[in-house]
Amino acid sequence: MIHVALPKGRLGESVYALFEQAGYGCPSIREKNRKLIFENPEAGVSFFWVKPSDVAIYVERGAADVGVAGKDILLEYAPDVYELLDLNLGRCRMCVAGPEDFLDDPARSLRVATKFPNIARGYYSSLSREIDIIHLNGSIELAPLLGLSDVIVDIVETGKTLLENHLAPLETITPLSARLIANKVSYKFQYDETARLRDALAQAVKKGEKAP
Ligand code: PRP
Repeated sequence: MIHVALPKGRLGESVYALFEQAGYGCPSIREKNRKLIFENPEAGVSFFWVKPSDVAIYVERGAADVGVAGKDILLEYAPDVYELLDLNLGRCRMCVAGPEDFLDDPARSLRVATKFPNIARGYYSSLSREIDIIHLNGSIELAPLLGLSDVIVDIVETGKTLLENHLAPLETITPLSARLIANKVSYKFQYDETARLRDALAQAVKKGEKAP
């Protein structure tokens, strides 16, 4: 049995649909109840929903054999897991954003508000730019509006949140999407089952890309 940690929420719904297309469905998951773990012994799979940012922890510690995590989480926390496949879902990008007319003053340290301090530090250190990180947990766009920071490093999907707050994407740090990850020990001991799952998901991803 392969134990799968799925991210709760909108992304999780499309991730589960992909598992279903790949032949790893679990009909009981659609029932409205408070169960936390859903099993389909015939398909050799069990699922549980966790907070998206916790998926990598479950997988790293072996509570799940595989899981689906955003590339943002993998870059930020660098969990000790294998990244097996780009699921091409939840596509967005990590950006520097700020007021449209923002002009950086290299004479002073740049104040950067973000939920992703490691990604921000890595990016600015590659530019040799000195920064002051302001680590927030949400509603990052507020920081430049209230003068708490000069810019933000955050996820941009449609760009609507920025636009509606009179902010603009200034630089793209990296594209992001959902990735299939695996626990390193499980991957070794359940290699055949995991490889079969990865290949079936890869086929389903390809089909999805071809669909209009
Ligand atoms: C993310 C991100 C932006 C928003 C971008 O927030 O932090 O606020 O999505 O999406 P858009 O470009 O389509 O407008 P999330 O919904 O994860 O909530 P948060 O406030 O906890 O960061």
